[in-house]
Amino acid sequence: MRSIEWKDGRVRMIDQRRLPHEYVMVEFDDYRGVAQAIQEMYIRGAPAIGAAAGYGLALAAARSGAKTREALLSDLEEAAETLRRTRPTASNLFWALERMLRKARDEGLEDVGQIQEALVAEAVAIAFEDVEINKRMGEHGAGLISDGDKILTHCNAGALATVDYGTALAPIRVAHTQGKRIHVYVDETRPRLQGARLTAWELMREGIPLTLIADNAAGYFIQAGKVDIILVGADRMAANGDVANKIGTYQLAVIAKENGVPFYAVVPTPTIDLSLPSGAQIPIEERDASEVTHIGGQRIAPQGVPVANPAFDITPYRYLTAIITEHGVIHPPLEEGLRKAVQASRMVGGAS
Ligand code: MRU
Repeated sequence: MRSIEWKDGRVRMIDQRRLPHEYVMVEFDDYRGVAQAIQEMYIRGAPAIGAAAGYGLALAAARSGAKTREALLSDLEEAAETLRRTRPTASNLFWALERMLRKARDEGLEDVGQIQEALVAEAVAIAFEDVEINKRMGEHGAGLISDGDKILTHCNAGALATVDYGTALAPIRVAHTQGKRIHVYVDETRPRLQGARLTAWELMREGIPLTLIADNAAGYFIQAGKVDIILVGADRMAANGDVANKIGTYQLAVIAKENGVPFYAVVPTPTIDLSLPSGAQIPIEERDASEVTHIGGQRIAPQGVPVANPAFDITPYRYLTAIITEHGVIHPPLEEGLRKAVQASRMVGGAS
């Protein structure tokens, strides 16, 4: 299942807002539509957002009426700025846009047509590489999962959150394929219920045994010894290993440490932002109050109630048992391992 693809000069993606009730593909031929789809969460999950931004910029290039290289680059800067303003926390968004702009500025590309073609190819490459990275993280992470393990996960870090295969769900998929008898506890993940709507749907399609639980129940299951390992994704990881992920991740990590349960973040290198020394510098997205006051379009809170709705929180590095990347499992001290992983990606032409 591909969450997003380039088809006949257009961008096609699953409208994730409608899952699990309806599986609907939507198409865009304007980058502004893609930007809106990211903001409104038709597509979400840091790697999928990065892929969408890449395709958005490819669309901007393909549809630009620019006649000169300079005019096209100016159109692309403008489109990139619109895409940048969609979701501030996901590192992959900024990473993908930088990579696309770098390609556009490539001195070897002489005319408008060459740049347009190169940008489509680059966006397709970003999407293709994402799937390869996820499969590699799946292989590395599956080594940490034992036969009979009960695994807890938060939000949706599956195929839908990436181009395919997933980050935190990748080791789970591989362990299941290896014949390990695993069981996954899925946090519902208020306010937008990505766990209940998306992760539950994905795991059921794969035939992976699961139990959906209310967010508030996670501590109960961990304390009762019913969770052997916790796997989560990441929206942005700072140079010291502090990690921004879906709101609620931090409290899970603290409860895990208190109960001696290993806690892993599954983090592809485009999600690592070495320019930020710690999580304190990661911007946290604040989303609309209606996500908290309503469930499934139905108001559940009194009219006019004051609301705060941060979409992510920061888990300090000391709560992480290790970090699973496409280059292997990084154990503390994390800082050096993260730098080496990003360096290894640069050598193969990927991460900036
Ligand atoms: O708000 P979302 O649904 O985009 O948040 C998604 C998450 O927090 C995921 O855990 C993260 O992006 C990693 S997914 C591969």
